[in-house]
Amino acid sequence: MNTKVKNICCIGAGYVGGPSMAVIADKCSNIVVNVVDINIERIELWNSEDLENLPIYEPGLSSIIERCRNRNLFFTTNIEESIASADMIFISVNTPTKKKGLGAGKASDLKWVDASARQIARYAQGHTIVVEKSTLPIKTAQTIKEILAVEKEDLINKSMKNKTFDILSNPEFLSEGTAINDLENPDRILIGGENKKAIEELINIYSSWVNKEKILTTNLWSSELSKLIANAFLAQRISSINSISALCEKTGANIQEVSIAIGTDKRIGREFLNAGPGFGGSCFKKDISNLVYICDHYGLYEVSKYWEKVIDINNWQQKRISKIIIDRLFGTIAQKKIGILGFSFKANTNDTRESPAISICKELIEEGANLSIYDPKVSKSQIEKDMGQLSVKEISFLKGEGMWSFSQSIEESAYCSDAIVILSEWEEFRYINWKEISKIMRSPSWLFDTRLVSNINRDLSFGIKVWEIGCG
Ligand code: NAD
Ligand code: UGA
Repeated sequence: MNTKVKNICCIGAGYVGGPSMAVIADKCSNIVVNVVDINIERIELWNSEDLENLPIYEPGLSSIIERCRNRNLFFTTNIEESIASADMIFISVNTPTKKKGLGAGKASDLKWVDASARQIARYAQGHTIVVEKSTLPIKTAQTIKEILAVEKEDLINKSMKNKTFDILSNPEFLSEGTAINDLENPDRILIGGENKKAIEELINIYSSWVNKEKILTTNLWSSELSKLIANAFLAQRISSINSISALCEKTGANIQEVSIAIGTDKRIGREFLNAGPGFGGSCFKKDISNLVYICDHYGLYEVSKYWEKVIDINNWQQKRISKIIIDRLFGTIAQKKIGILGFSFKANTNDTRESPAISICKELIEEGANLSIYDPKVSKSQIEKDMGQLSVKEISFLKGEGMWSFSQSIEESAYCSDAIVILSEWEEFRYINWKEISKIMRSPSWLFDTRLVSNINRDLSFGIKVWEIGCG
């Protein structure tokens, strides 16, 4: 590697900053990587001796952390020093949907990006390459440039050191649950920028382990926009297949068979065509909402309406599932016990942001059900944050309201339950011994499999009635 970059700082030690910097540190042992965050607790967890206790669960991550941490990978709250010593700074902060003000509910909230740019302007020294790694609305690089210029002017007026910047866009395409593999073997690396030298420096880093043919360079705006559009297209596939799952249920077709039948056409492709309870995760909804906002801003109302429908179908799918559960349980689930298997937004992650489990569980509780929630990696305290109410142990039974409790195992969740609902596709749910489970459930018992992962045989289901998504 013949890069001049010897020291990297990453602002944001989250689901992107943590794993992506761990992989850079692992592959480029001659570069020092400092990952900084304002969240002290998060940094402490990244530095935890107990590798089972890292702030995010991601297969393969802990062994990289073990190898690189305190060698050339450091997690710290010392933002000022880390910025000052960096030749290249990645901005990997959160960019959620705005909750209030102009564009609330659609536009991305860029206050953390804005704050990062101001910190960089203040503390950077000499020449620094600033890399947008967060997913950002098109033209954000312009805003960052302006912030850097204005802040720099202010500092020069105060006779502080001269400094210069280049800005690159380098969006991240990893998926949670497969992040390490995605980072180590990416389909492509996308770099947008104006200055060839700066682009070359970033190419040099990635080419330590990524074939150069996979490194695409574009102008800044194509790079920023491509990230939003990639997520919109992926989410669109899920809304498309989910909409057809409902039609399969009405007609006797089978969504898995339809998926395979259409996916074998290589123009369509087999991947990312699994029907489910609706897409979750921190990005699809926010990125499409942002796209809708941008299209409206440019007066492209037909385009914005088109993409908005992808979100509408997703909301509808989640509601549809709660309604089916209630209908099948004779129209009432008050005081019935329902075992929930899987609370994360997908398998192999402890992330619950926008998980369909949250809205589905809330609706079931609203109808009076007592839920017993089991997830292999999501903690009780996280479920407490998401459900916004106390678990069954802290709340009075006498109120007659639905409630939830935390289960340590599949069996505990299933015990005395009238129904089991599978909401994320964890591997262990594929191998459930339904014969044994049927003995501890209350009859008539139901299985609602929203992920098509159960190995239950509908014709030999030990008395359990089975509903599977997209199966007529
Ligand atoms: P996250 O919330 O897990 O992490 C962001 C971190 O940035 C937080 O820990 C926060 O405390 C920190 N932060 C915010 N402002 C800061 C500041 N001024 N100084 C220091 N630290 C600061 O978010 P994430 O999931 O890692 O996502 C980050 C960005 O990457 C988003 O734009 C997201 O859209 C994008 N992205 C996410 C994924 C994913 O799978 N999660 C994949 C690709 C892209
Ligand atoms: C997604 C994209 O896949 C990444 O490329 C992108 O970098 C990332 O968003 C981002 O920008 O944050 P992620 O949200 O981690 O990654 O996970 P996905 O595997 O895309 O799943 C998203 C949701 O769609 C999950 O709820 C998942 O269960 C659901 N899904 C996915 C389906 O219902 N069916 C499928 O076939 C695939």
